[in-house]
Amino acid sequence: MNPTSHFNRREIPITTGAVSFPDGTSWIQSPVCGGPCTTAPVPYFRRDFEIVGKIQSAVLTITALGLYEAECNGHCVHDDVFSPGWTDYRKRVYVRQYDLSASLVSGKNTIGVILGDGWYCGYLSSGHRQFYGDRPRFIACLSWTTTDGTSGSIQTGPEWKTSTGPILESDFFMGEAYDARRECLGWSLPDFDDAAWTHAQTADTPQVEIVASIAPPIKRMEFFDAQRLDLPKPVDTQTLWDIGQNIAGRVRVHMRGNPGTTVKIRHAEMLDANGEPYFGNLRTARSTDCYTFKDDEPVVWEPRFTVHGFRYVQMTGQAHETLEISKVEGISLYSEMRETGDFTCSDDLLNKLYCNIVRSQKGNFLDIPTDCPQRDERLGWTGDAQVFIRTALHNLEAHAFFRKWMQDLIDAQRDSGEIPCTAPNIDAFGHKWDGGAAWSDAVFICPWTLYEVYGNSEILAQCWDMMVRYMDFIAKAPSTCQHIRVHSEKDPWGGFGDWLAPTRKGKPAGATPKDLIATAFYANNARILARIAEVLGRESDVRKWTELAAAIAAAFRRRFVSEEGLVTANTQTACVLALYFDILLPEQRTVAASQLVGLIRANDNYLSTGFIGTSYLLPVLESEGYLETAYRLLENKECPSWLYAVVHGATSIWERWDGWTAEHGFADPGMNSYNHYAYGAVGAWMVGTVAGLSLDAPGFGKILFKPRPGGSIRSASTHFHTSQGKAAIAWQLNEAGQLFLQLTVPEGSTARIDLDSRWRITAPATLPPGDHRFVAEPNG
Ligand code: BGC
Repeated sequence: MNPTSHFNRREIPITTGAVSFPDGTSWIQSPVCGGPCTTAPVPYFRRDFEIVGKIQSAVLTITALGLYEAECNGHCVHDDVFSPGWTDYRKRVYVRQYDLSASLVSGKNTIGVILGDGWYCGYLSSGHRQFYGDRPRFIACLSWTTTDGTSGSIQTGPEWKTSTGPILESDFFMGEAYDARRECLGWSLPDFDDAAWTHAQTADTPQVEIVASIAPPIKRMEFFDAQRLDLPKPVDTQTLWDIGQNIAGRVRVHMRGNPGTTVKIRHAEMLDANGEPYFGNLRTARSTDCYTFKDDEPVVWEPRFTVHGFRYVQMTGQAHETLEISKVEGISLYSEMRETGDFTCSDDLLNKLYCNIVRSQKGNFLDIPTDCPQRDERLGWTGDAQVFIRTALHNLEAHAFFRKWMQDLIDAQRDSGEIPCTAPNIDAFGHKWDGGAAWSDAVFICPWTLYEVYGNSEILAQCWDMMVRYMDFIAKAPSTCQHIRVHSEKDPWGGFGDWLAPTRKGKPAGATPKDLIATAFYANNARILARIAEVLGRESDVRKWTELAAAIAAAFRRRFVSEEGLVTANTQTACVLALYFDILLPEQRTVAASQLVGLIRANDNYLSTGFIGTSYLLPVLESEGYLETAYRLLENKECPSWLYAVVHGATSIWERWDGWTAEHGFADPGMNSYNHYAYGAVGAWMVGTVAGLSLDAPGFGKILFKPRPGGSIRSASTHFHTSQGKAAIAWQLNEAGQLFLQLTVPEGSTARIDLDSRWRITAPATLPPGDHRFVAEPNG
């Protein structure tokens, strides 16, 4: 990974929960304010003060409703961006602290803050601005001690001065407009003349929890040098750049132009058939940054409070004016997380698929797990996050990231127990407050997966009430009837269903009934609750939820399964859910499994699953003895398949199987993201089954090496930094069919090997920590 930025990391962890500011500290804001559809210039705030003595320590404590960037004596004092992040600002806002001991001096000092609209009052998916409030505001306290033991502090209040500067607009969806002619050079330095600035307004103290941030900060994580592309149709002063990778981020441009002229920077994920950038899928997101030159000196510019989902950058100057661009860098922004795992195998296309999965994770883990980073949506969609979480936890150390998002879910829950489809909730989907099956059910799946991977039961205790309240809501909902959830006669909406399930060669896949999906998840929720109750030592709850799970499964079988085991809905997803959630009687499983395989064969050996069915499809095929069918689907290259996008040059996971096809070009621009991790959920199977690393006890206290070589794959490997240390497996098949295994068991763990009947191996039943090598001989 590249060094993250040119700033030093100065954040000091806060160890308490609630944070209080000294008496007399007030929230302050600018008198300038936009409207529901009009943006306002970004406000700047400053305050001069003096310190007598040599600084020993200094701490800035700050938060905002909006986004802040703090400067001291002419320099930005932190390397995180978009802090304090996105929470439900009606309930909670996070605070960070920074060490300013190296910034303050004896004598005159200045502290400055710039505020962005961000999620607080910028455009949100609702189509309007100002969802939480009309303008950004912030609160801060800077305290210091000097070497002679004297302490001092300053806080926000009406004595701070404010003005607007060069940033005329800065919005996540729309982009940033910067007019260098309005720069206030030296504004955060002492002796700056702020006579023309007005006093800041004191804002009402928001009645919300002000607490120490529990989220990893968003940072500039990676840098990409853009290549200049030839323009299909040369246009005066227009250039086109390719950063080589679809990311969430922005550009830093090294350029020169005539004073007063503007360069317009547009962002796109794809090029169309003519080689022109494709903006069609951005919907109302303008995703355009503008920079106006103040003189003809070279500048290096990067916008401040915006982020775009893009790979291509179109830069256009003004006709007949000079515009020289010497360098364009793509900067990817995401929550700072350590890389913890990988996957490689003998097939380069699958390796590329895996890279794309990681890329889409990075492109969507900006404080919350979003669906996509480019169009006017970018929300914490619960369904997407739950299908992807197991894969996500392999790639990046996302414990804190998801702990924060679990709190967002808790905050999003309604008094009635309902869980919305996105967290933070923005009430944007009036038709239905409950997020529905597989979406709201993230409240069970995500905490349980976090517990399995990290072995820390605190998250279960933290989420217990939320889960139980949601289960009660489902049980009492008028549309739940005799354990059938969202009974089709009683709920015309019924949830998002198997979202984006594809058709193949014009054949409709057949929709999986929503009450079937919902009831399968309902049974799974009850089963997860029973397991959690066991971990938390809640004996009577174990019984209660186990019984409910059994009752729901029985109701499912009565309504959706024939006696011999045929799933009446007859779709791939219906069979997959009945099998994966272990709803069928043992004797029914083989029937449903062969029904599933029959459906795949009838579909020319292609999948026909959407967001929900896809994540469980390969695990089910493998566990039911159809490993080669699973590999066939994994290695398919026509649409719909994972490799279709890869073969056609994708650098991230697409929202739709047919996001672009050779026959039809771009899919419906109304909903067609090229950076959507949901189908990347297959990563968990690649790691767990192709490479063969999985857990045998929570937190990898015990490890299971269970590779299942298949398809055309001749070797595979993966590693994962468990909380005990690094676990790894690499296997290779030779011509004689021998399977060579190299295994690493971390200190504090043990492991076992599980090979299928194709091989025999001489190995201890329990492997101790350390590196191990084995050769498994082919049977027969
Ligand atoms: C989002 C999804 C989400 C879905 C709900 C879409 O607009 O992009 O990924 O899960 O709505 O079905």
